Parts: sequence; C-alpha cells; structure tokens
Amino acid sequence: MASTHGAHQVLVASNRGPVSYEVQEDGSLAAKRGGGGLVSGLSAIGPDAGALWVCSALSDGDREAVRQGVGEEGVRMLAVPADVHADAYNGIANSVLWFVHHMLYQTPLEPVFDAEFRRQWASYETYNRAFAEALAEEAAEGAAVLVQDYHLTLVPGMLRELRPDLRIGHFSHTPWAPADYFRMLPDDIAEQVLRGMLGADRLGFLTRRWADAFTACCTELVGGPGNTEVGVHGLGADADFLRRRSHEADVDERMAALREEIGAGRKTIVRVDRTELSKNIVRGLLAYRQLLDDHPEWRERVVHVAFAYPSRQDLAVYRDYTAEVQRLAEEINSRYGTPGWTPVVLHVKDDFARSLAAYRLADVALVNPIRDGMNLVAKEVPVVSDDGCVLVLSREAGAHAELGEDAITVNPYDVIGTAEALHTALTLPAEERAEHSKRLAAAATALPPAQWFLDQLNALVDQPS
Ligand code: F6P
Repeated sequence: MASTHGAHQVLVASNRGPVSYEVQEDGSLAAKRGGGGLVSGLSAIGPDAGALWVCSALSDGDREAVRQGVGEEGVRMLAVPADVHADAYNGIANSVLWFVHHMLYQTPLEPVFDAEFRRQWASYETYNRAFAEALAEEAAEGAAVLVQDYHLTLVPGMLRELRPDLRIGHFSHTPWAPADYFRMLPDDIAEQVLRGMLGADRLGFLTRRWADAFTACCTELVGGPGNTEVGVHGLGADADFLRRRSHEADVDERMAALREEIGAGRKTIVRVDRTELSKNIVRGLLAYRQLLDDHPEWRERVVHVAFAYPSRQDLAVYRDYTAEVQRLAEEINSRYGTPGWTPVVLHVKDDFARSLAAYRLADVALVNPIRDGMNLVAKEVPVVSDDGCVLVLSREAGAHAELGEDAITVNPYDVIGTAEALHTALTLPAEERAEHSKRLAAAATALPPAQWFLDQLNALVDQPS
C-alpha cells in the first residue's frame, strides 16, 4: 500500500518559529529571521536533511503570510485562530505553566482554577492538537520529531496516537516545578500534562535538577515515567558566532556610545534580560541601591548598565513589572546621581549589537533570576567580555550547575547578600578575575547549540524502541 505519510525525516515543533512577518505600509510582507539556540542547532543538520520546522503564526503579519501562502522552505506556520492562540499562549502557557515551573504565584490569592481557566485549557488542547495533526501529516515513516517546551506538552501523546511509527522527543527549556508546587494544578490537568509528555520516547531537560523534578512528579502522580527515557542536555553558548559578531562595526559604535554614558574610569555591573518576571530585575536594582548605601566608596565609581527588553506585553503583570523596573531605576538616579554620574543606565529598546557591546565592557555580570531553565546571558558574557568579568550568579539558574564553581553565588531573594556579592565582585583582584572568567568561558561553551541539537537527535534515533 502506498504511504500517505509526509516527506520529512526530521521535524521540529515550537510555538515561536525561526521567521516572522510584518505587514509594511504598502501592504507587502517583510520577513524577519530570529536567532537563538534552536535556530543554530537545527542548522547543524544542513539544508539537505529534509527537516521541517512547524511553528505557530503569532502576529497579524504571520497570519497574513499563511493566508497568502507566503513562507520559507523548511518552515510550516500554523494559523491557529488568534483567540485560540491567545488563550493557549497568554492564558495557559505563560500565565499558568510558566508560573508553575518558575514558582511565580503569590499564593494567598492565586492561582484560581475556575471556569475561565477550563475554557482556556480547551483552547490549549485545540492548539496542541493542531500541531499534532500537522506533524502527523508532514512526517515520513519512522521520522524523528523534536517538540519544544511548555507550550506543547500535550503534543507527544496526541502525536503518538496518530502516528505510532514516529520517534518522538520533547525538550523543556524551562525549569520543572517541584512536585508539591506542580500539584497546585488541578489533578486531572497535572495528570494530562505528564501523560502528554510521556507520549514521547525521550524527554530532554537543561539540568539534572529539572529532570529529577519531572521524574518526581511522575512518580507521585502517574506511577513513574514508564518507558520514556529522560535525558539532560545543557545548552551552551555559541562561541564562534559570539566572538565574530561582537567584533563587528555596529558593536564598536555601541561601545563608544555606552562609554560616553558610563563615563571614564568607572566600573560596570552589566545585566541583559527580557523584562521577565522570573529574571528578578527589581531585586537586582534594590541590591545595587544597597551597595551604594553600604559601600559609599563606590558612588561615582560604578555604573549599573541594565538592559531590560520588553516581553509578553499582552499580560498586565508584565507591563506592571516593566513599569516598576523603570520607576526604581529613576528613583536610584534621582537619589544618588550627580551632574557627572548616572548610577543606572537603563535601556529598554531591544538592540542585540548594544547587548554585545555591554558584554564586552562588563566588569561584573549580574544574573540573579528567581528561577531559570538555563540563562544564556550567564554563559555569553564571559565568552565576549574584553577583559574577563566576574559573574554574580543566582543558585536558582540552571547555568549554576555548570558555572557555579567560578561564579559568586547568590540567593536571589537576599538583597543584602546580593549587594555584598556585587562588592566582592567589584574588588576581586585582576588575576583572579581573569582566571575565573577563562574557566567560565570554557564551561559555558562545552555544548554549543549544534552539538546540543545533534546529541538529542542521535539519542532519540538510536534509542531502542
Ligand atoms: O526560557 C524558555 C523559553 O521557551 C525560551 O526558549 C524562549 O526564549 C522563551 O521561553 C519564550 O519566550 P516567548 O514567550 O517570547 O516566545
């Protein structure tokens, strides 16, 4: 019998794809390519590997592109209705699953799993089903499918039912919640998420800690992970790309502009984040303020360069958080600033070249998330910094498992402790700083994106069925 299966041997599925579209003033569509670990990882298998990336249309431009049949080879965008996508992405993925795994709830009042939650959950199921059906249609007999992240937890189970012949993997880019916290979800939903993921042959996590948390949830709620293999792949920084890109002309220009803003002879404490609730930018600013109080000798001699790029602005709680970051930065500047010294240089407009310029200038990198799957900034700054940097790193970042020995570790909630860590970092002797920075850069690049991707693919394909 002729196969009705698709032609692709390797498929990747994620909410956000490698390309997005914008409708221009003249009505035409402009394509913009994104970056990140998955994009450079997938490039490792080359254009002839028959790979397909299935992603969601996110913007009006994306939907228009799907409507007009505009697209790139190797990418299939799914035009899930905008309201269904909003419920699944904003309502469930970012407001429930993200909050659970990053432990972000203020529990006296939230979460509340009511009828509205159930309505949004139905959209999350619809959205996951759209992915499962598209993958089932596109995959060749026995193909490998790599599903990404908390947006798509139900896809492996749904796809397994449609296409038992496939090798299915799922990778979590977030932390995984401890079982007691995960059990906040309604019992049937918690079980559905776990069983959905266990539809995969193999699950990947960024650190052993998150993998163990997942296994513990399975043991408590569904009697264990069964035949599904659980693996750890700690995504590293892309050293070749970063070193090359950070020496291009636009980065040099941004460095000159930043140097102007900072002022001659001053030390820099650099942070670069999406303005994301889990990144702990507000406590970072509080710690910097504490440093200026506890160690007034740093006044006029240090600048906190903080880049906080807007993220998920459809959610009110993210907008409020962004406003609080700006308010606090202004408060510090008006309280401590002098005519020749701006204590906090805050930028909120996303500019990759300027981020690299800040990496190069960093004396200290502050990475203090409440909880983070990995945190690639912690890995990128030591690779790029011109004179080596000291890393102040939260013990709750996945990156801490690999970088902790050469970083100054902080409890992200302890503002006084973080202020003291900043002081220690600023005063570290140059030779020690260079030594640590060198070791950080080596650890940070141990598993570059291409190898990270290939390792997962090979482990999935080689695994006995
Ligand atoms: O950190 C986990 C992660 O899925 C990243 O891989 C990704 O950058 C982000 O979260 C998703 O962000 P967004 O909501 O902007 O797509």
